[in-house]
Amino acid sequence: MRAVKGDQKTRIALTLNGRKLAAEAEPRLLLSDFLRHGLGATGTHVGCEHGVCGACTVLIDGVAVRSCLTLAVQAEGREVRTVESLAAPDGALNPLQAAFRDHHALQCGFCTPGILMSFTDFLARNPQPSEAQIREVLSGHLCRCTGYANIVEAIKEVASSSHAPRSEG
Ligand code: FES
Ligand code: FES
Repeated sequence: MRAVKGDQKTRIALTLNGRKLAAEAEPRLLLSDFLRHGLGATGTHVGCEHGVCGACTVLIDGVAVRSCLTLAVQAEGREVRTVESLAAPDGALNPLQAAFRDHHALQCGFCTPGILMSFTDFLARNPQPSEAQIREVLSGHLCRCTGYANIVEAIKEVASSSHAPRSEG
């Protein structure tokens, strides 16, 4: 990445959902806006834009991060995964997504991509967490609709099966 001044754009090369690409962005641009408006990954939602709601959570090199607290230039050379990476190419839901559907763990769905990405990371590192651990991770996400009980049940189902999602693409 080349150093730039002011609002001059710089080229950012990254891998997004398994695809290598490059695009230009101002150094001050947030990763969340870069993903949504620059790269069309609109599954990444933006709520609070200051690290509270968790809706913007994506994976960078397999680790869940708030994309509204990350600059686009920080994605240079990294592997970024958004919620668009979870389903199979034919649209089949992965086990975590299917559990959310089956347990009615979403209503409007605004919070859902961020929660799915947080738990994609968490379950890859900790495939059989306790309910308390699930609730602790979930406490980093705000849901305005459903309450959290069904979300916990969905995650518990995946955690108790052998279908914990993998963190890599
Ligand atoms: S939009 Fe990033 S945490 Fe709320
Ligand atoms: S399902 Fe609507 S905000 Fe969570």
